[in-house]
Amino acid sequence: MAISESKKTNPLANLLKPLLKRTSSEPELALLDAMQAGKEVGDKEWQKSGKEHSWLHFTRHSPFSKGDMNIIVRGEGHFIYDSKGNKLIDGLSGLFTCNAGHARPELAAAAQKQMMELDFMPLWSYGHPRAIELAEKLLSIGPEGMNRIFFTTGGTEGVESAWKIAKQYFKMTGKPQKHKVISRMTAYHGTSHGALSITGIPAFKQMFEPLVPSAFRVPNTNYYRAPHEFANEDEFGIWAANRLEEAILFEGPDTVAAFFVEPIQNAGGCFTAPKSYFKRIREICTKYDVILVADETITGYGRTGEWFGSIRYDIQPDMMITAKAITSGAQPLGALFLKEKFFEPFKDGVSTLAHGYTFGGHPVACAVALANLEIFERENLIERARTNSPIFRKTLEKLYDLPIVGDVRGDGYFFAVEIVKDKKTKETLSRAESEKLLRGFLNNALLEAGIYCRADDRGDPVIQLAPPLTCGPKEFDEIEAILRKVLTEAWKRLNG
Ligand SMILES: Cc1ncc(COP(=O)(O)O)c(C=O)c1O
Repeated sequence: MAISESKKTNPLANLLKPLLKRTSSEPELALLDAMQAGKEVGDKEWQKSGKEHSWLHFTRHSPFSKGDMNIIVRGEGHFIYDSKGNKLIDGLSGLFTCNAGHARPELAAAAQKQMMELDFMPLWSYGHPRAIELAEKLLSIGPEGMNRIFFTTGGTEGVESAWKIAKQYFKMTGKPQKHKVISRMTAYHGTSHGALSITGIPAFKQMFEPLVPSAFRVPNTNYYRAPHEFANEDEFGIWAANRLEEAILFEGPDTVAAFFVEPIQNAGGCFTAPKSYFKRIREICTKYDVILVADETITGYGRTGEWFGSIRYDIQPDMMITAKAITSGAQPLGALFLKEKFFEPFKDGVSTLAHGYTFGGHPVACAVALANLEIFERENLIERARTNSPIFRKTLEKLYDLPIVGDVRGDGYFFAVEIVKDKKTKETLSRAESEKLLRGFLNNALLEAGIYCRADDRGDPVIQLAPPLTCGPKEFDEIEAILRKVLTEAWKRLNG
């Protein structure tokens, strides 16, 4: 649908005008000049400036020398709109964030009210009402046994905080050697040096080595590519869980502090795990006094059809990292849930956790999170995701009639479609084919066909889908039709 979004003037420019006197050695800032001159700016100006002065995250910039950047200018409900006037289904909820959809007036109102009441106060030595209220609310919907919330601004900081708290906890409770962490192959846990050490994607780490020592990997639960035949998925689950015990024994139980696991692993394409896996993982962590950390940065807040994947799959974690959809993406916020035992040593009257973030638990973000959780409850979004999930799965499974679709997997509103060269042998794409197909075709073709989602080859190539929980069967059909068209063309290109 064509809409007119691209022309905007910026009132800030006039305010900035007298403050900005540039010298000839400074970069040419044509967009700023246009804004200062009171000219309307739009796609053309954003393209030029974006290409010359912006640095996008995890993005190869070379295509922008020939083509344009995709610039998203507006979001509403489960749609986003780009600077050229195209309307797209938001098939990824922003980045697994906008679970209640875009542009919710309730969230804007909560933010405005909070800004006028208390716009900022850090959680350093002081509390503020919204963080206290939000912590209570979170504990009321979280897994059993949690009693403390440590606020961050996102998932990476949650991972970082969990590891640091684990280390200090063991130092204060007579097990000072326990500091190592174990996580799973291909899992993504964030980008800071600590979180990146826990991340299991070698390509993301190479340029930043040496990283924090003491982080080890075990196999994930990719049943589609299990290393050998198993009688059933539960048996595979036990096999995969036992690799954790093996790793703990290899490293020495006295040195291992924590195991980080996502309820559904995103990188690699929605690896779910059978019941047997999480049951056995829990047993192993208890046996060796290893902290079980559920990283629910993506799976939290309804994505799996429960408030948290830890509840849906009865994971019983000791710590739980959440972020992203806590505010439906309208504000940056993360919340690390902890059992009280991790706080106990800090009750000695002198001990402090020397760790925190200026914006962790920002009052405006907390107010927005409270309003967001109210929307979830008022609109029964969790139940909606749970009851609609089998329909979503069935709709995507129709794609199995395409020769390029090897596997459809996931749960809740979180699915991956794995692309293969040969369905029978499950032969995957070579690096060069993946490069050609994903970067050279799929990502843009999906956008052109009307959906924003992700073709991802951090593991084997997949298309990742995680639409807002406000979507339903009508949108599932639209998503299926778009994927069918684009994947049919992709198969031709792969074999052409
Ligand atoms: C499982 C998991 N952990 C941590 C992170 C990092 O979160 P953030 O980008 O908010 O720092 C992500 C991001 O997608 C994630 O998926």
